[in-house]
Amino acid sequence: MLYDVPVNLGDRSYNILIGAGILDRIGALCSEVGLKGNCLIITDENVGALYAKTVFQSLEKAGHSVSIVTMPPGEPTKCGENVFALQSECVKAGLDRHSFIVALGGGVIGDLAGFVAATYLRGIDFVQVPTSLLSMVDSSVGGKTGVNIPEGKNLVGAFYQPQLVLADLDTLKTLPPREYAAGLAEVVKYGIIYDAEFFQTLEENIEGLADVNNAELLAKMVGRSCEVKADVVAQDEREGGLRAILNFGHTVGHAIENVAGYGQYVHGEAVAIGSVYAARASAERTGLSQPEVERIEHIFQALELPVTAPGLEWPALREALSVDKKTVGGMPKFVLVSEIGKSSIGNEIPEDLMETLWNEL
Ligand code: NAD
Ligand code: GLY
Repeated sequence: MLYDVPVNLGDRSYNILIGAGILDRIGALCSEVGLKGNCLIITDENVGALYAKTVFQSLEKAGHSVSIVTMPPGEPTKCGENVFALQSECVKAGLDRHSFIVALGGGVIGDLAGFVAATYLRGIDFVQVPTSLLSMVDSSVGGKTGVNIPEGKNLVGAFYQPQLVLADLDTLKTLPPREYAAGLAEVVKYGIIYDAEFFQTLEENIEGLADVNNAELLAKMVGRSCEVKADVVAQDEREGGLRAILNFGHTVGHAIENVAGYGQYVHGEAVAIGSVYAARASAERTGLSQPEVERIEHIFQALELPVTAPGLEWPALREALSVDKKTVGGMPKFVLVSEIGKSSIGNEIPEDLMETLWNEL
């Protein structure tokens, strides 16, 4: 059974289809939304070795002329040089304005391939086929595409919506457990910022959440996460306000990734640490109760995610915070919560408290 979540954005609307066994049907599903012409699958070595053949055959069967380009796995792949390299691959694959790109992989491939789609010939169609939990519940939905530059993460990019998002839950069975746990950090985020009932459901199903074979719970968890994200994005596509709540835990999370070097902490792990920081900051600034701070800390610990980053010193993190996209006039802005399920954006934290909160983590 397919879980179908619409993303309502007027003439840029699309659907997120979630379920088992989707990869075999990609060609037909792309045809259903009117995709035609040549197609370039962009993937990474890990995902490509497992799934590119299935996706290739399904697209060929639907009548497309299909090419594949395979990138090295990992965050460094999401860089400007690879945008140009992939644009050249688009030319080699004969992509024209009626062609489309299939981003097959985690958030790195989704962000990079999406940006290539946004910029090649000033924009061609693309389909997100997320294969990591994080990319299913977050990065493939909502149209943020882009790359890192040496000065910071995601500093270059475009809002560019896909025509379709296809999340095959079967692919999670091959995802390394550490990556799966990291994706759960983003799932928990939706409960914290938007849906207290969902947060409670997650708390009550900790063991089930860790089981990638629990198809029913998995579909509900991915489905509800996508619904929350779709709801937020439909209200504020280009992050004029509300959408920034999705950055809960990301202000400090991005700084951690930046200072530790991309790769020491995977994205979701850095977000887990940043979320605990934001929860404690919320207790100081927006009245989050101590029991709710503890519930937030506990759920990340129960999911075996890190909640501290020993060895990272505040001055380096503070410097990284200064180049964060959410920083205005040198002061970082934080998403905080007043209670689980109710968040607000644009919060400042006094300098000394910012440092104390880090040192006490
Ligand atoms: P990733 O793409 O690096 O994937 C993690 C690892 O898992 C990689 O080694 C990949 O090869 C492997 N992998 C993926 N799916 C697999 C599968 N089914 N089986 C086996 N291996 C698999 O990382 P990620 O966590 O998916 O995404 C992180 C990226 O997403 C970051 O660059 C982050 O900035 C970005 N992001 C973007 C948004 C957005 O809105 N665009 C939101 C959140 C995160
Ligand atoms: N991951 C944050 C956003 O999509 O806005």
